[in-house]
Amino acid sequence: MNLTLKIWRQKDKNTAGQIVTYQIKAVTADMSFLEMLDVLNEDLIGRGEEPVAFDHDCREGICGSCGFLINGVAHGSQRGTTVCQLHMRFFKDGDSLTLEPWRAEAFPVIKDLVVDRSAFDRIIQAGGYISAPTGSAPDARTILVTKEAAETAMDAAACIGCGACVAACPNASAMLFTAAKITHLNVLPQGQPERDERTLNMVAAMDREDFGSCTNHGECEAVCPKEIPLEFIAGLNRDLLRTVLRPRRQALPVRGATLPPADD
Ligand code: SF4
Ligand code: FES
Repeated sequence: MNLTLKIWRQKDKNTAGQIVTYQIKAVTADMSFLEMLDVLNEDLIGRGEEPVAFDHDCREGICGSCGFLINGVAHGSQRGTTVCQLHMRFFKDGDSLTLEPWRAEAFPVIKDLVVDRSAFDRIIQAGGYISAPTGSAPDARTILVTKEAAETAMDAAACIGCGACVAACPNASAMLFTAAKITHLNVLPQGQPERDERTLNMVAAMDREDFGSCTNHGECEAVCPKEIPLEFIAGLNRDLLRTVLRPRRQALPVRGATLPPADD
């Protein structure tokens, strides 16, 4: 099939970008979307032009590196699919596709379709860990985990940190990502010692980046390639409320959360 690609080209974060149109021929139905871009890039390199920069690594939907907007939809219109797993059989001959990077203040464009998602790393660094005593590994049976907790933690751990939720949200909110990372540890017995600090610190870290607030649009859930549910955001809000309402807690700068005065 032959396609028209309108791709955002931007030299670096200090240079203005623009949409550039390319024609690509002989695309086969069994190519992945990224393989189709590889073909375009080989053609561009052969003509002495700069190839299109895009992020990728595993190409099997597990690393979270890839992602851009296809005709305005994060990862394209196939539900539960990363752009690396999207195949060209979902498109037809003559289609015109517009590819743009994630659009969010917190994700500045580095080049073409590549954005800087290190804001996510800083949220993880703020609380995405558990305390573990040194020494030999404990027997796996010493800490019992309920089936419900294990399944919820696994569902939350499916988040690959791709950033599609932020790109789709009209507020560029990172609540779905942060909720998945907090839920992953907060529901497990091993996550209980730092549960309050984790919740506060990760929400505060999210607040320090340029993400917007959640106003329950649900666009994040709709585009998430791992189908992380909105209910995790509700769980995060419950954890945050319970934590900030505990007495003797020192105030942390969490926007929208009013702390009661310490009672001692
Ligand atoms: S919640 Fe979904 S869309 Fe957001 S970063 Fe995680 S996997 Fe990507
Ligand atoms: S390249 Fe790893 S998820 Fe797409």
